[in-house]
Amino acid sequence: MQKLQVLENLWYVAALSGELTDKPLARMICGVPMVLYRGENGNLVALEDRCPHRQAPLSMGNIIGDQIQCDYHGFMFDGTGACTHIPRQDKIPASMGVRAFAVVERWGFVWLWWGDREKADDSAIPHLPWTEEDHQRTQYFYFHVKSNHQLMADNLLDISHVDFLHKHSIASKIGDTEKQTEAPKVTFETTTEGNVVTTVRKVHNTLLAGQTAKWHGSEGPVTRISTGRWEPPNCCILKLQFAEPDGTINETISMEHIMTPETASTCHYFMDWTWDFGGPDGYPTHADVDQEQRGIIDGDDIPMVEAQQRTIEQFGADARDVPVKQDLHVSSVHRVLKRMYEDAGMTAAAEVTRMAAE
Ligand code: FES
Ligand SMILES: [Fe+2]
Repeated sequence: MQKLQVLENLWYVAALSGELTDKPLARMICGVPMVLYRGENGNLVALEDRCPHRQAPLSMGNIIGDQIQCDYHGFMFDGTGACTHIPRQDKIPASMGVRAFAVVERWGFVWLWWGDREKADDSAIPHLPWTEEDHQRTQYFYFHVKSNHQLMADNLLDISHVDFLHKHSIASKIGDTEKQTEAPKVTFETTTEGNVVTTVRKVHNTLLAGQTAKWHGSEGPVTRISTGRWEPPNCCILKLQFAEPDGTINETISMEHIMTPETASTCHYFMDWTWDFGGPDGYPTHADVDQEQRGIIDGDDIPMVEAQQRTIEQFGADARDVPVKQDLHVSSVHRVLKRMYEDAGMTAAAEVTRMAAE
């Protein structure tokens, strides 16, 4: 099997809560085909997508109660992967089972434990309580990306691309000489504690444009504060705030961008966008957020990251990154990942060593 070399004993997001129903969902996670579903009692189940009888994909089967029935000869399996029923046969062979994974539903995501099942510790799931607070609204997204998961995550660790790649949507207003004669000052701080990397980036006294001006209700000027917290394997917890000249903050947008490897060169991108302004029904509505974020991510980020992936495949070992000052958050995360691979006795993946030493 094409099992990928990924970090183990960590929670990987396998699906959005809303994606799991009483119909089987087939999804490859870290190179392993899986079937996921929600049983009648609400429990989530994740199994290898392979019937141990004759290798039919279980995802072609049906959910009956809390179990899944293979569509080929009708064998049934429970949430632990044990076979519970063979038509016209009482004795079930001891080896008639399929691998089951621990899954936990939290904050609107389905977290799958990749590693030793007995080590699964749900206190290690990132803490995202704002997704459930009454005064906030949350919109969830799933994107499929034809790039390595790290390239897509790096895009979220690199706020400096926003003013350029997203100049028509969420950039700050640049080059308005009438109102602003100098480029806004940027301050940046990155800290690594254990396996967590945090960053705070402030663009001082800047004007907003496009969607950011609409969210804020004016062009400003404001101090634009971007806070990032990265947790392994690849959970990017971001906040965007606009501070008035007196320091008041009226809008906070919390975003989680979480990458899970599908294959070595494709990934699943799970996201939420949670906002605390505009009242319960005002702009931006769920439909506005859906349209805006799909425009930005499907329109700008994913095409760029997929193009990077193609370049890396075309140039092979010649494709080395040259980091600059603004890449500090990306390179700090890569350093943590490299150490985690090495601590686990693995060679660090090329995607975290491609950056030339600073
Ligand atoms: S292959 Fe699944 S029951 Fe035979
Ligand atoms: Fe982006």
